[in-house]
Amino acid sequence: MDSNRVANDWSHLDTRLIVLVPVIILGLAYTVPYFSDRYGIRRYPGPLLAKISNLWFANQVFHRRNIVAVHEMHEQYGTFVRITPNQVSIADPDALQAVYGYSSGAQKGDLYEGFVVFAQNPSMFATRMRDVHSRKRKYLSHVMSMKSIQELEPIILHHQQVLVQRWDALCAEAVKHKAGVTGSCNWKARDGRVWFNCMPWYHFEAFDIIGDLAFGLSLGMLESAEDAAPVVVSQKAAMDSYFDSEKAPVECTTVPAVKTIDESVYIGLLTGTLSFLRPCRPLLAYLPPFKASMKSRALLAKMAVSAVARRLASGESRPDFLTKLITATDDNGHHLPAGELSAEASSFLVAGSDTTSNSLGAITYYLARTPAVQAKLQKELDAVLGSPSPNDEAVIATYDQIKNIAYLQDVINEGMRLHSTAGIGLPRIVPESGLTIAGMTFVGGTEVSCPTYTIHRLKSVWGPDADEFVPDRWSRGDRAELSKYFVPFSIGPRSVACIGRHLAMMELTICIATVFHRFDLALEDPNGKARTLKVYDAFLRKPASVFVGMKRRV
Ligand code: HEM
Repeated sequence: MDSNRVANDWSHLDTRLIVLVPVIILGLAYTVPYFSDRYGIRRYPGPLLAKISNLWFANQVFHRRNIVAVHEMHEQYGTFVRITPNQVSIADPDALQAVYGYSSGAQKGDLYEGFVVFAQNPSMFATRMRDVHSRKRKYLSHVMSMKSIQELEPIILHHQQVLVQRWDALCAEAVKHKAGVTGSCNWKARDGRVWFNCMPWYHFEAFDIIGDLAFGLSLGMLESAEDAAPVVVSQKAAMDSYFDSEKAPVECTTVPAVKTIDESVYIGLLTGTLSFLRPCRPLLAYLPPFKASMKSRALLAKMAVSAVARRLASGESRPDFLTKLITATDDNGHHLPAGELSAEASSFLVAGSDTTSNSLGAITYYLARTPAVQAKLQKELDAVLGSPSPNDEAVIATYDQIKNIAYLQDVINEGMRLHSTAGIGLPRIVPESGLTIAGMTFVGGTEVSCPTYTIHRLKSVWGPDADEFVPDRWSRGDRAELSKYFVPFSIGPRSVACIGRHLAMMELTICIATVFHRFDLALEDPNGKARTLKVYDAFLRKPASVFVGMKRRV
């Protein structure tokens, strides 16, 4: 009897211990670093949860509002905000050079580990070690130089023409019918306009362009108006076929590319934020909130491998990125190993597609919401391209024709400033020697970031109307001074800033000029429901929908 009671007492103790010990360990794991304050950042304000764990930031990522949440924290606390136990976000214009400038010596933060799609072979984007990154950057700078991009302009113009033909067809349909579906895209006709969400179309165009430029792939998304890209059935078989023509071609099926990339970037950001999730990736694939995005992550790898395998199997010789990557050598004459080809292909697909399409969508939204700006832009375009033609021949603006139209560049820059597609604060680790940033000293190992979205809206730089779309601010102010704080592609010409910025600017300039030269776009309820643009945050800011009413100008 007694011995039974003792046994029962122990079993209670066991249960209590099983619960208590992990709670105590977890509690210590979170509070000891906070109180020991290894990096001396306890003095910086921020949400309590953010000071002791990455869960605050992860929760914002989970709800797709991480960029706007950090912005709100800066509005509440000021210039310095602690957004994770190790990271201080610094919304000071002069911090940009200190953190991202070439001489800062800081390397990419732990977050980038979440974006390693091919283990052992991180892409240049996901590479954190500065020397390894520089080696990769050497291969790729050659591929993405302005000269290379100029050679590929006819490809961009071709896809731009397809977009215009598709939108001409929508306008023509809207004269005959009240509503319809083109591919996967709905539209309705009212007041002499065709009303539709232009976001999927911009995604299709951006994918068609990057598929063609990078791999010579004709994805045909604009033609079909469907989000569908080919993927190999077996990733291993496809990789085995890379340099063995006997094994090509490989069996393919299709996947929704736009959705795949969006979800894989989201899960990359989440696992980048919560390092403990990384070893559990195989398990995440079974948990309902992560299942879809984990599947997309695997599909992204397959999409990249497919693109490389299909391009190599075609045996064609054309001046696309892949050809340049295969032939490029570093200072020691070494070629890019096959594993890295797949990794860079995945990063081209991710970095070169919805960055551009989300920016296009946002610029279109602001132009449609501000008819006076749209009219002024159209006048400037007409002066260079001539009046829009009533017949089927659309003017597809070449880059040389339009790159010097100052107002066009001001409109694009203003849209990119206000929207801030890559609006996240890019985390960097302070080097061992420490850094002085915005007057404060940070010791080696601290993570710091400058939140691009917030920097782009600082009233001290942009004026009291910083939250408004005012392209004239660029000509009325000191353009050179403003440009120092305009960082949509990050900064540092030879460091880690966007390597695709020449391509991006060419795509944005050609597309905005061509579309607004030919069409007039309006919002359905510009002062009501459509007054604000609904956006999903992750690494990028993605407009949920840009619903516009479009008509031909003549
Ligand atoms: C409007 C469009 C674009 C925006 C706003 C944008 C923005 C950025 C930013 C802010 C970075 C720095 C990221 C970081 O440090 O973590 C970056 C890096 C990068 N971007 Fe872009 N980008 C755009 C278009 C493109 C295009 C069209 C490509 C072409 C393939 C591209 C390829 C890359 C690559 C490969 C990197 C990594 C660079 C490195 O780590 O050295 N981007 N981009």
